[in-house]
Amino acid sequence: MNKNIKWYLIIVFSVLILIIYTGYYFTDIGRSLDREIMIENDPLSDKENSNKLPIPPLLEDIDPEEGKAEFNLKVQYGSKEFIKGYKTETLGYNGNYLGPTIKVSKGDDVKINVENMLNEPTTVHWHGLEVPGEMDGGPHQVIDPNNTWKPYFTIDQQAATLWYHPHLLHRTGEQVYKGLAGLFYIDDSISNELNIPKEYGINDIPLVIQDKRFTENGDIPYELSMRDLMNGFLGNEVLINGALNPQLDLKNEIVRLRLLNGSNAITYEFSFSNEIEFYQIASDGGFLENSIRMNKLSLAPAERAEILIDFSNYKLGDKITLRDAEYNLMTINIAEETNKLSKLPDNLTEIKYHNRDEVSKIRKFVMSGMGPMVAINGKQMNMDRIDEKLNLNELEEWVITNESVGMGMMNSTPHPFHIHGVQFQIIERNGKSPPLNERGWKDTVLVDNDEEVRVLAVFRKKGLFMYHCHILEHEDSGMMGQFLVE
Ligand code: C2O
Ligand code: CU
Ligand code: CU
Repeated sequence: MNKNIKWYLIIVFSVLILIIYTGYYFTDIGRSLDREIMIENDPLSDKENSNKLPIPPLLEDIDPEEGKAEFNLKVQYGSKEFIKGYKTETLGYNGNYLGPTIKVSKGDDVKINVENMLNEPTTVHWHGLEVPGEMDGGPHQVIDPNNTWKPYFTIDQQAATLWYHPHLLHRTGEQVYKGLAGLFYIDDSISNELNIPKEYGINDIPLVIQDKRFTENGDIPYELSMRDLMNGFLGNEVLINGALNPQLDLKNEIVRLRLLNGSNAITYEFSFSNEIEFYQIASDGGFLENSIRMNKLSLAPAERAEILIDFSNYKLGDKITLRDAEYNLMTINIAEETNKLSKLPDNLTEIKYHNRDEVSKIRKFVMSGMGPMVAINGKQMNMDRIDEKLNLNELEEWVITNESVGMGMMNSTPHPFHIHGVQFQIIERNGKSPPLNERGWKDTVLVDNDEEVRVLAVFRKKGLFMYHCHILEHEDSGMMGQFLVE
């Protein structure tokens, strides 16, 4: 390269970095303050708003045959009154906002007809589902306006709480943010037989948790500032199933909550008032071996957890709040007393742990860069480039590190690393065994600055898949790669 051009590029690049860093420094004094800044800047925070928690409908299976299921999904424009008196433009599946819950059983042959009624392309990705690459709904399976995509697959994995959302190249953040997300449940003989709550919306409650940045007229424009490109798009309010500060009426019994962090970028620290204890029974891809007692739960974007809480010592009229750090997200009202006796299960399932001695290939994934320059192994997403080639059914060890640590006083972002088409097992965080609630099936793992996470996985489906950071602004900036399983 010509010497002058080289110097010119180096200077331009340095100035750019300087501008980005200064902007970052002056607008953000650190991640822990984000929520306070968000709440203070919320023009609507004093508007009274409290409503019942909506429960997404279960999607009707239109194939009556046992062992088969067929579903219709329509991707459409909508509008919704999140805040009384304010109409917000949204997107939804079969409705104004979010999507219905799809429920299938292990072994089912499933067909889904996804009709795109938008004026722009979209895709629908089944996050956490182990299906062949062409059924995965990643950036290659584009559904053009007025077209219908008809994926079909057999459910070939254990009971789990998965989800679905768009995955269009560079446009995922906006489409998810505007409302495109839904839950995808799998049942199997173990989930059916376990003595845990199973009545959908009654004592087995779906919670899709997403933050939104409302303007003073109730809109949720998706316009990214430099700060949003750095940290991801953070909101000033948190919605659960599309409701602000919802109320959930429950009986005083054991209740199962299925939490999905469907947010673009924020990691929640969930807890309940009075630090009441609960039990995590499932991680992203299915049941843990035993219930894990805890009083805080951290979920990064795309992560899920199922928890049980025992309300049997509570009385009619008692109130418990679900919180994120010190902010109340939802109020649980004990609305009915029952004397149903039930016991919290201890053993849930048996997990066949991979044997590390059988690893046939170790791969490294280094997450680095910041803002629009975020990358994995120094590369940004290119649809025409396959980054890794894998052999079907072989055990792999993936070593995921986060080197995107900022300079000086800048702290950088932990990145939630997600792998398509597989449920993996975390074996190490910085050389140590992961916490108990991460010793189950996972498809997304938060990797902190300077952290090294090792996971084991057997890829059982053929085709082209993605791995990426699930902060959607990072994904859209190119923090994503492709692997081919053959
Ligand atoms: Cu939840 Cu690649 O996606
Ligand atoms: Cu996924
Ligand atoms: Cu990231």
